[in-house]
Amino acid sequence: MGGIQGIRIAYGADYNPEQWSREVWKEDLELMRQAGVSLVSLAIFAWSELEPSSGDYRFEWLDDVMDGLDGAGIKANLSNATASPPPWFSATFPETLPVLADGTRVWPGARQGFCPSSPIYREHALRLTRMIAERYREHPALAMWHVSNEIGNHNILCYCDVSAAAFRTWLETRYRDLDQLNEAWGTSFWGQRYSDWQQILPPRQAASFGNPTHDLDFRRFSSDACLSIYRAERDVLRSVTPDVAVTTNLTPNHREFDYWSWAPDLDVIAVDHYLKAADPDAHVELAFTADVARGLAGGEPWMLMEHSTSAVNWQPRNVAKQPGEMTRNSLQHVARGADAVMFFQWRASRFGAEKYHSAMVPHAGTETKVWREVVQLGEVLDRLAEVAGTTLQAEVAFLFDWQSGWALDTPSHPSIDVEYRDQVHSLYRSLWNAGVTVDVVAPGADLSGYGLVVVPSLYITNTGTARSIDEFVAAGGAVIVTYMSGVVDDNLHVFSGAFPGAFRDVLGVRVEEFFPLREGETATLDDGSRASVWSELLHLEGAEAIASYVDGPLPGTPAVTVNEYGEGRAWYLATRLEQGTVDNLVQDVLRTLKIRPPIPMITAPAGVEATRRTGSAGSYLFLINHGVETAHLMAKGRELITGRDVAGTLALRAGAVAVVREETG
Ligand code: GAL
Repeated sequence: MGGIQGIRIAYGADYNPEQWSREVWKEDLELMRQAGVSLVSLAIFAWSELEPSSGDYRFEWLDDVMDGLDGAGIKANLSNATASPPPWFSATFPETLPVLADGTRVWPGARQGFCPSSPIYREHALRLTRMIAERYREHPALAMWHVSNEIGNHNILCYCDVSAAAFRTWLETRYRDLDQLNEAWGTSFWGQRYSDWQQILPPRQAASFGNPTHDLDFRRFSSDACLSIYRAERDVLRSVTPDVAVTTNLTPNHREFDYWSWAPDLDVIAVDHYLKAADPDAHVELAFTADVARGLAGGEPWMLMEHSTSAVNWQPRNVAKQPGEMTRNSLQHVARGADAVMFFQWRASRFGAEKYHSAMVPHAGTETKVWREVVQLGEVLDRLAEVAGTTLQAEVAFLFDWQSGWALDTPSHPSIDVEYRDQVHSLYRSLWNAGVTVDVVAPGADLSGYGLVVVPSLYITNTGTARSIDEFVAAGGAVIVTYMSGVVDDNLHVFSGAFPGAFRDVLGVRVEEFFPLREGETATLDDGSRASVWSELLHLEGAEAIASYVDGPLPGTPAVTVNEYGEGRAWYLATRLEQGTVDNLVQDVLRTLKIRPPIPMITAPAGVEATRRTGSAGSYLFLINHGVETAHLMAKGRELITGRDVAGTLALRAGAVAVVREETG
């Protein structure tokens, strides 16, 4: 049976009853019943309420909340409450407050005010975790554990002396001896050779550019330090309740974590996603994040742990959601494998930093667009219960690497305009526009079973990853690689010879020199399209030119190439192309490979999204119209939201969602 901890498409929110009176708690339970809430994330920021002074525990209020939830048939995704250490903690141990790169120690007053490597924090957090685990181990409302909250979101990079010592320990494990570290960091450059481990510090603000490998290793260490918090707290929970699932809410849009290394430690993958309200095509970015979540889950169902019912409070202009938008966002996550739809938060706070953040119960109460939609969504998810546990299939793998992003986003590169996420989003957008489903995978992932692998700006490419792509193409696969891929190894050392080092053979090209373009400058290609940001002096070594420059710094030089390699083919985009040009190229490649969307679009205006979830229960076609016109789409079966039969075509009005249980045979 599918579903999160036995709950078919779980529905709910962060629940913060500590902000409200007991009268309100009663109303909460009644409203949760009306909305069909099945799961709430509880006690996330409750440390100061549970332990108002050191060792003085007050669980009675939480007992009552847990009992109330149980009485109402609602499950708890119970937090160990370690995300926000109380004022007494920071006052007693000011040395646990995080330090910025310039040496400033931040003050208490917000959440996550602790150094991830602090043993004092850890000791107190584990003590609280054990108390909570012991107290609620047998509670019937307990469904799963929610470790901390968005671990590292505000404090991942701490440069204090405690972090420095932890960093050195991490480096000793990685390199064993100092010579290896000196070699990896290239410390013979600018006279940086270390002669003692104690000389190594976090990359604090220095006089000029720091050592990039030092910086990269500090980011690796910092991601691991946060993972280590999760593991330690998880281990305590597991020791007390070995059968209760443990997770934490990941933030794939936050750039500082390498979640590929976190994923195996989570019993179920949970992510938070907030729409970039200023982006009119935010649904494409939503799709990408959902696909990242599914990738982290290894294709299994995952949880949308937080999103918003309407506006947030932390963007420059917090645009509210249009009628239907919240439902559409929610079902888009489900369409890409989520088996839980949860919000931040249940009831809008009257005070504090997030009082203008939307919630399931808005300030204006239940006579509202938001509440009506919240109730309707609960009903819809109920009708979709049978979808829980089903999965998606993809013929395209999309290689995503947080570490390449870290490395490319640091200074001292050929062009400030080369941004990792820019290429990621451009290529992903083309695949989304083409309507095909993609699996987001880690570098080095098993590629067998895919027809096409897309590799946007994979700056760091170790030999294992390069080999897996070589072998995949040699065996008949197709690959699209974009500029600034395969340039450096895991230590950020440039591959000797010529660019794009690790991919020269498979791409059949040799790049002699980079020619970044000036700000705003474009170059024309012989197919009439325009390039910007980047160009390179590229020589064909087996590849064929698809498009070459007619002007700019390199007239006559190829900008887009294709190479026959073994049984397969490798395309190289050696410049930043306009979105329409990338779309056309990707569509040509997909056509050649006969990779198609889940359904043929009969009259498909732009903005229609189709995905299919399948399992032993059946096959479910999700159709979402993000566009402005009615779409006429091919489908046959029972539409689960309306309960109507669909005979062959379905008219999907602008903004609407349909989920069709497909007829087989
Ligand atoms: C998340 C966080 C929540 C809340 C929310 C607001 O990053 O986990 O606690 O702050 O943002 O959008």
